[in-house]
Amino acid sequence: MSDLPLRVVRGRLLQPHPTEPRFTLVPDALVRIDAAGTFSSVEPAPPDCDIPETWPGAVLLPGFVDAHLHFPQTEILGSASGPLLPWLQTSVFPEESRFGDRSYAERVAATFCGAMLRQGTTLAGIYSSSHPIATEVLFEELDRRGLRALTGVTWMNRGAPPALLRGTGEALAATESLVERWDGRDGRLRVCVTPRFALSCDAEMLRAAGEVAGRHGLWVQTHLSENPDELKFTAEAYPGASDYLAIYEDFGLVNERSILAHCIHLSDGEWARLAARGAVVAHCPDSNFFLGSGCMPLARALGEGVRVALGTDVGAGRTFSLRRVAASAYDASLVVGAPVAPEVLLWLATRGGALALGAGDQVGCLAPGYEADLVAIEAPDGLAMTPLIDALLFRHDAGPALATVIRGRVRWGHG
Ligand code: GUN
Ligand code: ZN
Repeated sequence: MSDLPLRVVRGRLLQPHPTEPRFTLVPDALVRIDAAGTFSSVEPAPPDCDIPETWPGAVLLPGFVDAHLHFPQTEILGSASGPLLPWLQTSVFPEESRFGDRSYAERVAATFCGAMLRQGTTLAGIYSSSHPIATEVLFEELDRRGLRALTGVTWMNRGAPPALLRGTGEALAATESLVERWDGRDGRLRVCVTPRFALSCDAEMLRAAGEVAGRHGLWVQTHLSENPDELKFTAEAYPGASDYLAIYEDFGLVNERSILAHCIHLSDGEWARLAARGAVVAHCPDSNFFLGSGCMPLARALGEGVRVALGTDVGAGRTFSLRRVAASAYDASLVVGAPVAPEVLLWLATRGGALALGAGDQVGCLAPGYEADLVAIEAPDGLAMTPLIDALLFRHDAGPALATVIRGRVRWGHG
């Protein structure tokens, strides 16, 4: 980790459009970053420029945004015990139960944040475990590493081993205390109310989650409509609800500050209400393939005006790489017979993610006034934009980022 030796970066840029899912390729740009870590100018390099390329062979993009992943699943990534419900019982809950131990949580938090930075992620929506201590440790490590994140204790009061269960009062108190210490810290960290999913929470708990989010204007994250057995048991647990989304709506958990992971098996009515409420779908196709959950109809979601971001969903997802997830999203879009262009997917993984997670005024564009988050990725020279984006997303043997920069500071790699 070091300050950039020069506050001028030279390189090839993929510049996202601020609001539309497309990019402009700038083959040779000069980027100036001021002492506060903000872009002060971004221009084509003059023909006689004698500043060397900062990362030769790289293309520069805004940092990746991972809209959905689980810190306490870092060490069980790749556990092939799906589908969802047996995987939770067999692989996830025993591992998450270990996070009451501060030193274990510290070790895993270092691995977790390092893995995100290595893959170029600069902003993420993260689930902790249900333990306040692990969540405190996670905030400390995110803060140290300069990352941007929304996170919070996971609320769950049923359907898991006792070590993971918290009463509503405990989850609420833990969340309120995190809000006091961490919410808004350095303009990078936010507390997110995190009811695991309806099967893990009774009605009283979901009600309290909605109330605390409303009281403090907090973001909410949960899971929605991932797996057919989950849908069946959820309908049995909430017999009064008209559909799955209605369970969360009834408790004030669905609005423009809600991130709903998966959304694979929704009805027409649920899609229309998600669009109307401005909620964000975290599309996690690598996880969906690994757990055999199904394919979220991405083209349909975008066509209905639903806000979408991409998530690794580590550790059901097998990678911290948003490039890899974008490739899975492409595969999933072909499976459902409605291909989504790689350029759109790369935009969702960067600028679209920043907008979806409420950081669109701060990050996601390489332009004056935005905070200087960027990632340098190795890519073949001389390619036009479409083959360049294909190379970035679909060459799985490519290595990690050459550098990951947040607010002008190199947080991974060299430069
Ligand atoms: N639904 C409830 N908890 C989880 C989780 O940890 N991962 C996934 N993929 N789905 C969930
Ligand atoms: Zn998840």
